[in-house]
Parts: sequence; C-alpha cells; structure tokens
Amino acid sequence: MRAPRNPMIEPADLRLLSAPLDFLEAEHYRFRAFLAHLERMAADHRVARRAATARFLLDFLLGDIARHLAEEAEALFPLLRERCQAADGIDRILGLVEGERARARDLSLAVIAGLRECASRCAPEAGFAAIVATFIGAMRRHIDWENALVLPLARKRLTSGDLARLAADMATRCGAGGDSVAARQGYFGE
Ligand SMILES: [Fe+2]
Repeated sequence: MRAPRNPMIEPADLRLLSAPLDFLEAEHYRFRAFLAHLERMAADHRVARRAATARFLLDFLLGDIARHLAEEAEALFPLLRERCQAADGIDRILGLVEGERARARDLSLAVIAGLRECASRCAPEAGFAAIVATFIGAMRRHIDWENALVLPLARKRLTSGDLARLAADMATRCGAGGDSVAARQGYFGE
C-alpha cells in the first residue's frame, strides 16, 4: 500500500490485516481524520496551506479510501449476503450503507475536481464547500452504519475460512500498487 507520507493521518496498520474486520474498523478511524481535515480545508482560504492539504487529501481519497470502498463492495458485502440469515436483515442493513456510499460516490467527482483546483492553487467552484459538506455527511453515515451494524454482523456470521479469504484479498489489494489499482479502476467514477 502506498502510505501517504504526511503526519496528518497515520499510515494504515498492516499488522491488522490478519484480522480483516479489525483492519476495516481501524481504517474507519483514519477516514474520520480525513473527513475532519477535508472539512477544515474547505473553509481555509490560505492558498499555499490549502494546496498542500488538498494534494494529500486527494492522494488519500483516490488511494486508501477508494481501495477500502472497493474491498467492502467486492469482497465483504458478497460474503455477508452469502452467510447471513433472513432474520439478520442483511438486505436492509446493506441498503442503508450502500445508499450513503452511492451519495458519496455521486458527489465525488465534484469533490475531486475541487481538490485538484485547490492543489493547483486555484479557487474551487463557488459551491465546493457545500458539496464537501454533503459528501462528508454521507461518508460519516456510511462509517456509522458499518461500525454499528455491518461489522458486528460480520463478526457473528463469517467463518474462519471467510475471514482468511478476506484477509488474503485485502493483503493483495494493499500490496504493491494496490492503491493505484483502486484509483485506476475509478472507484469514484473517474
Ligand atoms: Fe467502510
């Protein structure tokens, strides 16, 4: 994984990959830090400082966050649908999560475009701060739903074999070039 070399957010703790659900939960803490930095950056009018922050946040969004979202959609959620029982309400739970993910993804092109403008020391579009606020809200709700509903259910229903498969899948995605693969796949619709 290409860990951002910036003290704003700690690098991912790859030692947790052997416990994939713990790894995903730890990633959510890092994403909350990203969202807090994004919120502050959108209100910061100091051009040089904003440009440096925007470059870091853009890298993090297209790298770590794109990889995480793809990992959940392509590996974790299908496993959950396979293992959960009707009484678990998995369709309703994933419906809530996927709704927030879709909202964030719809806004992501405008967020990415604004970050690129800021990174180039240009002023973003007039509506950038409002779009960022909506994007942040959707991402925070996504994290809340996953922490409260998805990860506890995964801990209950996934087998040791499932967790081993998930760990192997995540290790592959986090390996050399993993972030750039996620970015090339255009998770955010680029
Ligand atoms: Fe997540």
